[in-house]
Amino acid sequence: MKSKSFWVLALNVFVSFITASDSAQSVADGGNPGVISIDCGASIDYVDEVTGIWYQTDESFIESGSNHRLAPNISFDDHAPTINRQLMTLRSFPEGERNCYTLRPKQEKQTQKYLMRAIIAYGNYDLRNQAPEFDLYLGVNYWTTFRILPNPNGPQTIFPFEIIMEKDRSTETLQVCLVNTGRGTPFINSLELRPLNNSLYRVSLPLIVFDLGNSASTRLDLGSELPLPYWTRFKDDIYDRLWWNNDNPNWDVLQTSVEAKAEDSVYELPWEVLRTAQRPPNNSNLLTLKMMSGDISNQYYAFLHFAEIEKLPRGQKRIINVTFDDENSLSQQLTLEYLKPITLISNITKGFTIKAATDSDAPPILNAFEICQVIQLPNSPTAEQDIKAIKEIQHIYGVSKISWQGDPCVPSQLAWDGLNCSYENNIRIISLNLSSSKLTGVIAPPFASLEKLESLDLSNNDLTGPLPEFLATLPNLKYINVTGNKLTGSIPKALREKANLEISMGNNPSPYCQANSCKEHKKFKIPLIASLSTLAIVTVVVSLVIWRFKMKTVLSAESQKKKFLKPKNQAFSYSEVLCITNNFETTIGQGGFGKVYLGTLEDDTKVAVKLLSPSSKQGYKEFKSEAQLLTVIHHRNLVALVGFCDENDVKALIYEYMDHGDLGGLLSDKAQNVLKWSDRLQVAVDAAKGLEYLHNGCMTPIIHRDLKPSNILLNKFMVAKIADFGLSRAFTNERDSHLSTQPAGTPGYIDPEFQRSGKLDKRSDIYSFGMILLQLITSHPPIRRQLENVYFIIDWIRPKIECGDIQGIVDQRLNGEFQVSSAWKVVETAMSCIEPQPIQRPDISYVLNELKECLAIEIDHANSNGLQSQLINHHSGQLDSITTLSAR
Ligand SMILES: *[C@@H]1O[C@H](CO)[C@@H](O)[C@H](O)[C@H]1NC(C)=O
Ligand SMILES: *[C@@H]1O[C@H](CO)[C@@H](O)[C@H](O)[C@H]1NC(C)=O
Ligand SMILES: *[C@@H]1O[C@H](CO)[C@@H](O)[C@H](O)[C@H]1NC(C)=O
Ligand SMILES: *[C@@H]1O[C@H](CO)[C@@H](O)[C@H](O)[C@H]1NC(C)=O
Ligand SMILES: *[C@@H]1O[C@H](CO)[C@@H](O)[C@H](O)[C@H]1NC(C)=O
Ligand SMILES: *[C@@H]1O[C@H](CO)[C@@H](O)[C@H](O)[C@H]1NC(C)=O
Ligand SMILES: *[C@@H]1O[C@H](CO)[C@@H](O)[C@H](O)[C@H]1NC(C)=O
Ligand SMILES: *[C@@H]1O[C@H](CO)[C@@H](O)[C@H](O)[C@H]1NC(C)=O
Repeated sequence: MKSKSFWVLALNVFVSFITASDSAQSVADGGNPGVISIDCGASIDYVDEVTGIWYQTDESFIESGSNHRLAPNISFDDHAPTINRQLMTLRSFPEGERNCYTLRPKQEKQTQKYLMRAIIAYGNYDLRNQAPEFDLYLGVNYWTTFRILPNPNGPQTIFPFEIIMEKDRSTETLQVCLVNTGRGTPFINSLELRPLNNSLYRVSLPLIVFDLGNSASTRLDLGSELPLPYWTRFKDDIYDRLWWNNDNPNWDVLQTSVEAKAEDSVYELPWEVLRTAQRPPNNSNLLTLKMMSGDISNQYYAFLHFAEIEKLPRGQKRIINVTFDDENSLSQQLTLEYLKPITLISNITKGFTIKAATDSDAPPILNAFEICQVIQLPNSPTAEQDIKAIKEIQHIYGVSKISWQGDPCVPSQLAWDGLNCSYENNIRIISLNLSSSKLTGVIAPPFASLEKLESLDLSNNDLTGPLPEFLATLPNLKYINVTGNKLTGSIPKALREKANLEISMGNNPSPYCQANSCKEHKKFKIPLIASLSTLAIVTVVVSLVIWRFKMKTVLSAESQKKKFLKPKNQAFSYSEVLCITNNFETTIGQGGFGKVYLGTLEDDTKVAVKLLSPSSKQGYKEFKSEAQLLTVIHHRNLVALVGFCDENDVKALIYEYMDHGDLGGLLSDKAQNVLKWSDRLQVAVDAAKGLEYLHNGCMTPIIHRDLKPSNILLNKFMVAKIADFGLSRAFTNERDSHLSTQPAGTPGYIDPEFQRSGKLDKRSDIYSFGMILLQLITSHPPIRRQLENVYFIIDWIRPKIECGDIQGIVDQRLNGEFQVSSAWKVVETAMSCIEPQPIQRPDISYVLNELKECLAIEIDHANSNGLQSQLINHHSGQLDSITTLSAR
């Protein structure tokens, strides 16, 4: 009962009382794509046992922060069984002033009403017994402040914050940001988004519903006999609103055991909530609620929910008279009908009074009510074009600035480091300073999308390539500083001639291998990239290429006219290739269309140079196909193209160098070390991420068609990347059936169904991926030849699965050092990928999730065994590598 007194106390802070179904379809479950349920800090996705709601981990919604659990001696189990599991873990944000979750609900055709809920429960997770204070923002606008009430049960308080708002079609994402205000580390336990029927809450939005401690807002279920406190929610409430069961101790309780369905109720109130009510005691006839929480200037809406639950004697009626705010203001009178819900709505500032009308035969009742505060979200975000461009820049160069989260300019006090904005009318980025930010690669076209840019400081980085001409298209540009980079070439004419532009270009090397370059190659084809990019624009991956139009401008007809002008970006001359590879000194492999050589750029970056052997026609097609694809798609789990050469008969593709070679080599007996189980899982997750991007990340799905261990490469941080896109195809419509007579794939990994029918489908890649998984597990290739005999891995593994012999399946060289549960899960996932019927194979997104869970199991286990630091090191290494490599 201790807890009960606390809850009543908490309630009293903001509200002072003075005497005076069976839910239908599941709106909240995973089946509704508008619903997003995130359990922050959880390590795996799960279906909540109590509510049946599917919760995801927050991994794909945020990149910063760290996971925690409640203190071991704190449990919310008896307080709140319906939200208990989500409260057990949380994510906290010791770094950065603002950290944001980004939600991408399914795009609706029209403006859609949503309920957004953040639940915060301190639970002494940091063992300091002192909850912090911090702000929550909804996108660019202040939402509320988390502040724990001073009371002995402090650490155990649960804070749901709910806001009802609308999202129009033009906004693709909803962000919830936690802002550190200097009074402790922000954290959050869960974040939930629920689409509402647009006919609900038709008043001025947004409305704050739950905001304990800061506002009078609340949603209460009266008369419930459940032990205090209790939150009724989904499945009782199809919209998963939280109903706080909290009675006024001075009022009488009224209940019915009749099972009814709340019909005709626009508000879709759960019968569980309506079937109980409260009434004034001793037949007094007044129920009054006054809001104490101070600020009279706040505007509220009251939603009072009634339903007659008492069978009154024949001829008798319960008629109630509701006055909002003062006795003086207009009153509303209504007669309650048996089991029929009705909702009264009014704006209020002070409270309401319900009494029996003069001709009523029964005292007034109230079943449930909501008090919602109207708030303003006055700030508008930065211009969309600028947001897109700056995010692209962040992505290309892997800019790792802590403040680069949420909106770049708004609110101004949280604007990103290294940029300034103008706030007149349209909010635009006007200066960008990425000096000394470890940028590598070329100066990419997104810079030219920052239309209002006046000042661009890129000094002291490792940028390569030319100073691009497209910067001249920025009308207001007055200052460029690229001092201290590795840029080559001279300042383009258009930039030289631009008025009022100051360019600092000191301290860049002179163009390397300049001497006589290309002089003898007089018959020069139209630069490949020009034709490629045009082609690419027509055929490939429309959605991703934010800067493709810029590309086109750069490669305008003018540049083709000048015979020896190099195409910008990434184009290497033959003599440069010679120079880079030191006359093709070191061969590091044999690719699909020729030899691969080791190269070293002037800044000592290692690269792999794939030279197309001039003889093969087929090879040129694949070469082009690969170049096309990799110029437009970029992902950290796809191998990155650094440049290319297309001069006369010399055609070469230049890639980032992958120190650890290919997966086939790493799994083979010849490898120096045996790949650990957790590393194998990480490779599987990485490769699945790359494939998911190909399949689902692009407007037009891309089918790789030749997945195998030798096409999965690992860099020096052991991050796996998919390579070799020579056979890949992009399709505009997934449902088109594609017939291909062309041979593709590699025996063992190739989908037998594709071989049979020639029908091309994402599921063929899934088959190959399943085979790769089996190889990761067992280290055996799909087909082995020994003397005269041919062994198929499938024939070998099936009986072992049937008799549950996991130890016999997993690579013996691991000596059993793996979690049995994670191993089984990977085996099951692999087997589902290689189902003979393509239709039965899962989508890669599903596969990725399963693999992440396997990895989580392994990490959880390692954590509990003190291996934590080892794994963390491993992972932070990966983060570094992602930062540097995505710069390509
Ligand atoms: C939990 O344990 C901490 C010490 O570890 C103690 O300070 C705190 O009072 C305990 N809380 C409860 C609710 O028992
Ligand atoms: C929303 O509610 C209205 C009125 O109750 C109903 O007619 C409509 O079908 C509902 N829409 C959806 C999508 O449930
Ligand atoms: C209601 O009646 C009981 C006894 O019948 C009495 O103790 C109580 O004070 C009364 N309450 C009010 C609010 O008059
Ligand atoms: C509701 O708002 C209107 C207009 O703003 C005002 O005239 C009216 O008094 C308000 N009603 C209540 C109950 O506060
Ligand atoms: C409702 O109550 C108000 C205030 O007490 C009163 O002025 C009004 O006449 C009542 N209306 C009815 C229909 O009883
Ligand atoms: C932004 O403006 C401030 C004040 O004028 C200036 O000190 C700072 O260098 C500017 N930052 C950039 C990126 O231009
Ligand atoms: C950019 O930032 C650096 C420090 O990081 C500073 O030295 C330089 O002056 C800034 N450039 C501009 C144009 O403000
Ligand atoms: C350009 O940047 C360099 C390095 O940050 C700095 O030393 C130099 O003064 C800058 N040039 C101008 C003209 O601001």
